[in-house]
Amino acid sequence: MQLLSILIAAFSTALVASSPTSRQSTSYAGYLISTFSDANPQVQWHLSNGNSASSFRFLNDGNSVLASTVGTKGVRDIFLTTNSARSEYFLIATDLDINASGFSWDWATRQGSRGIVVWKSSNLVDWSEASLRIVEGDRAGMVWAPSAVWDDATQQYYVFWASRLYGSSDTSHTGTANLDRIRYAATKDFVTFSTPSDYVALATTPLIDQEFQYLGTPGAFIRFLKNETTNQVYQERTTGGLFGSWTRIPGYVRNETPREGPASFADNLTPGLYHLLLDDYTQYVPYQTSSILSPNWVASNASNFPTGLKHGSVTPLTKAEYDRVAAKYPE
Ligand SMILES: *[C@@H]1O[C@H](CO)[C@@H](O)[C@H](O)[C@H]1NC(C)=O
Ligand SMILES: *[C@@H]1O[C@H](CO)[C@@H](O)[C@H](O)[C@H]1NC(C)=O
Ligand SMILES: *[C@@H]1O[C@H](CO)[C@@H](O)[C@H](O)[C@H]1NC(C)=O
Repeated sequence: MQLLSILIAAFSTALVASSPTSRQSTSYAGYLISTFSDANPQVQWHLSNGNSASSFRFLNDGNSVLASTVGTKGVRDIFLTTNSARSEYFLIATDLDINASGFSWDWATRQGSRGIVVWKSSNLVDWSEASLRIVEGDRAGMVWAPSAVWDDATQQYYVFWASRLYGSSDTSHTGTANLDRIRYAATKDFVTFSTPSDYVALATTPLIDQEFQYLGTPGAFIRFLKNETTNQVYQERTTGGLFGSWTRIPGYVRNETPREGPASFADNLTPGLYHLLLDDYTQYVPYQTSSILSPNWVASNASNFPTGLKHGSVTPLTKAEYDRVAAKYPE
């Protein structure tokens, strides 16, 4: 117990670093949505028209920018991450093809991939081949919806995903698993990962789809989680870093159901304004709030927002990044 407290204290001080992909700054030139579609489970990019959070163009002439050549060959839940120097970028994704022959969601949670698909780039436009990196042990039935946060203090990424774990004697995963939970591991290179551990595991609520939002001061984060019983997304807050203590913000982000796959981002121009995309099982619906700690998320002006987008992530881009991406993958 004492060791645990020391570890938690050490983590809390270490993890005060900012999430570089969510820092609010007027030096950003736009937003990049990394996503996929059910019809085309590959990496797709939508680039904002300047710093508009509601007007985007489908890059690469509406074609995917990367396709998986590993694992199931399908990717979902696309997440783009970088370090604070923005000297390397990783696209990570769930390894899952729901169109594969014999596919069922039950099978996918028992015999699904225990890896994530990873691409690496040094400039956001020239990408490595895809790699399948196994992050879970034999007890896991699947690895879904990876996300990552760079930690300056330890110069590594913390990677999070959802798994359900089968009993150690149930090697064929035919029995009843425990509830879906959020797991994590640390990595410096997305090649080797520390042994995974539980991050959020609740006694009676299955959870998937975790996403963090850095709030601009050290240690201050929001995290979004999907309650799989109600199929709604709720919010928690902390000022103590990723491994600090978290407080539930009562209720859910929205009362409509279903909602999943939260992708949140700070507005590049207006301090204190945050945007949140929620997947209604068909496509992303955009919301916004000016009071994220006691939020009243309202629907954004979606008249120009692209349709058919599924669970992904939103990355603010510097002017240099924006120009490179727009030049390499014109609409
Ligand atoms: C995959 O399945 C989805 C949902 O059933 C369907 O909308 C989509 O067209 C299929 N895609 C392919 C490539 O077969
Ligand atoms: C998830 O939803 C169920 C059903 O409403 C509820 O009983 C449970 O407390 C919820 N859990 C969380 C963490 O919100
Ligand atoms: C919504 O955005 C569109 C362009 O993206 C604009 O033409 C329209 O006036 C906006 N509507 C409101 C209510 O702001």
